[in-house]
Amino acid sequence: MEPWLGSEFGNPSSLYEEGRRAKAAIDEARETLAGRLGCLFGEIVFTSSGTEAANLAILGAALAHVDGPRRRVLFGAAEHHCVLHCEPLLARLGFRVELVPVDRQARTDLDALERSMGPDVLLGSFMHANNEWGTLQDVEAIGSILQRHGALYLLDAVQTLGSSEFGPRLDTLPVDLIAVSAHKVGGPKGVGALAVRSGIPIRPLIVGGGQEREVRGGTENVAAIIGFAAAVKAIREDDDSFKRAARDRFLGGVGSGFVPSADYTESDTLAGHAHGRFPGLNAESILIVLDRLGVSASSGAACSSGSLEPSHVALSCGWSPAEAAEALRFTFGHQTTLEEAIWAAERVLRAAEQVASARTIA
Ligand SMILES: Cc1ncc(COP(=O)(O)O)c(C=O)c1O
Repeated sequence: MEPWLGSEFGNPSSLYEEGRRAKAAIDEARETLAGRLGCLFGEIVFTSSGTEAANLAILGAALAHVDGPRRRVLFGAAEHHCVLHCEPLLARLGFRVELVPVDRQARTDLDALERSMGPDVLLGSFMHANNEWGTLQDVEAIGSILQRHGALYLLDAVQTLGSSEFGPRLDTLPVDLIAVSAHKVGGPKGVGALAVRSGIPIRPLIVGGGQEREVRGGTENVAAIIGFAAAVKAIREDDDSFKRAARDRFLGGVGSGFVPSADYTESDTLAGHAHGRFPGLNAESILIVLDRLGVSASSGAACSSGSLEPSHVALSCGWSPAEAAEALRFTFGHQTTLEEAIWAAERVLRAAEQVASARTIA
């Protein structure tokens, strides 16, 4: 990325030589992304994030069909907020949003989806893998239901872009739009992309200079786009096996006190993902101790204006708010060593013990 932050300062929309070099570099990055997502060069739109990519797919499709007969949009109940929070804007545009329930593993209830379908559904958004549970969806089954009813399928593939086993592709999956983000594959934060199947009308949310084939205005973030492509190129075929080995070693280390939310030995879960809880122990308390011990982990809760909301994913999976407050998420990269996984497991156990004994004293 470095040259594109300093010495290479051309604007990709300019005709002069430095500009043409920047344009050529973006084109090369677009080619890389298109190769990864199994789509055409011209089907990639660079955005500022996965959030913007999902917003563009949903709201851009709605704007393109604002006078059409399809007035409903379906979202999986456990989608990311970048999907769910499109609801108020869709409502203003005259679309009704309906949530399709998920099972206890955060997987779309296919019967409920079938029942919700009709000729008035414009689009369905069902993520590839859930960012909290780490479970994969049956994209083939969802896609065939949506296709049968002529509805568009947005696949939020932010969690799977880096998977060497389940990489999302427009040429093999029955989907029309794929949203991805660079920072989930080791790229820079603040850049993402939307793959749009040719012929699908999407109206821009950002208008201006006509960049990205008139679908997303604004001078491109050249360095970030180059960094995104470099990160994609660095994904290796055996990455998932390293992530899985670290995750499994960790799960072995934390033992049976930690109750996983899914069967992470199954192949339909993300390789580097472990979500679960220590029953009776508050996740935030554990995370505070873990941070002190040098382990960076997450809970499912979203902290906004000082109040902790229980995760909508946990609630939609049938957990109580009390159980949701216990949810912990651990993720492992392909560079995480087995020693680090064991080291982390020891600290997680120590943190859980500290929180348990503090609770007993209280
Ligand atoms: C499933 C999913 N979708 C969308 C996003 C948003 O991507 P970004 O952080 O690039 O806006 C995330 C980020 O955590 C995610 O996990």
